[in-house]
Amino acid sequence: MCVMSIIEEYKRQFAWRPWGEIFAALPDIRNQIVVDLGCAVGDQSAELIRRGAFVIGLDANEEMLAEARRANPTNAEFRTTNLLQPLTLKRPVDGIWCSFAAAFFVDLSATLGSWLRCLRPGGWIALTEIDDLFGHKPVSARTRELLDAYAADGLAARRYDFHMGSKLRGAMEGAGLSVRDELRLSDRELAFDGPAEPAVLEAWRLRLDRMKLLHDFCGREYEGVRDDFLSCLGRPDHQARARVVFCLGFLE
Ligand SMILES: C[S@@+](CC[C@H](N)C(=O)[O-])C[C@H]1O[C@@H](n2cnc3c(N)ncnc32)[C@H](O)[C@@H]1O
Repeated sequence: MCVMSIIEEYKRQFAWRPWGEIFAALPDIRNQIVVDLGCAVGDQSAELIRRGAFVIGLDANEEMLAEARRANPTNAEFRTTNLLQPLTLKRPVDGIWCSFAAAFFVDLSATLGSWLRCLRPGGWIALTEIDDLFGHKPVSARTRELLDAYAADGLAARRYDFHMGSKLRGAMEGAGLSVRDELRLSDRELAFDGPAEPAVLEAWRLRLDRMKLLHDFCGREYEGVRDDFLSCLGRPDHQARARVVFCLGFLE
């Protein structure tokens, strides 16, 4: 049995993401104050610090924050925050970074309104999110039906938007930002074609088994859905329509 902790899982994912392309698209952040919303274990915070920023990392998960503090002892502070509440900071920041957390805020334009009140004029916001996490084929018609219904249920319950990646630009423009860059990227775990690497397949199994609501939603069909999806990811003819989307906007 795999006993990898959630912290170790998050840290392992870092190498699979297209961070090189994403960080290359950021403006010069030397001497800037940047808030990292949904910072988790602080590995993107570390990249922001490495590029010269002071980072304020916010997350609801204490265990993740403890790791973020351990890994980033200087040029950063990390605070427990529920980001479903309007964001408040002592003074406006130069940049807002939010990766793989925007999908939790299904009314993103409205959420951005509160975030932008914490951004200085001319400041930037960089959002990265997956679009269509379950968009992988071939799976059976029943697996597709259940996964699509689960995603629709998450949106209807205002819990999570599985298609948030494709909505970033619209939400940013709706909130009055000027979008300067949008990238649609592959990812070694989330958005790739062909057979998954063994470690990626293991990570997907852990990810799916962590999704208690998916388990409950599928009921007795859960294991069949999981096994069909994992077998799809391992196939030579596997194809993903899922993409990692990055959007960079400025407050003008
Ligand atoms: C999928 S992880 C992404 C972590 C990291 N930013 C990355 O790109 O790898 C989502 C993070 O958002 C945090 N999160 C989700 N909802 C939140 C909320 N309402 N308030 C604060 N943090 C939240 C979770 O605790 C988790 O650390």
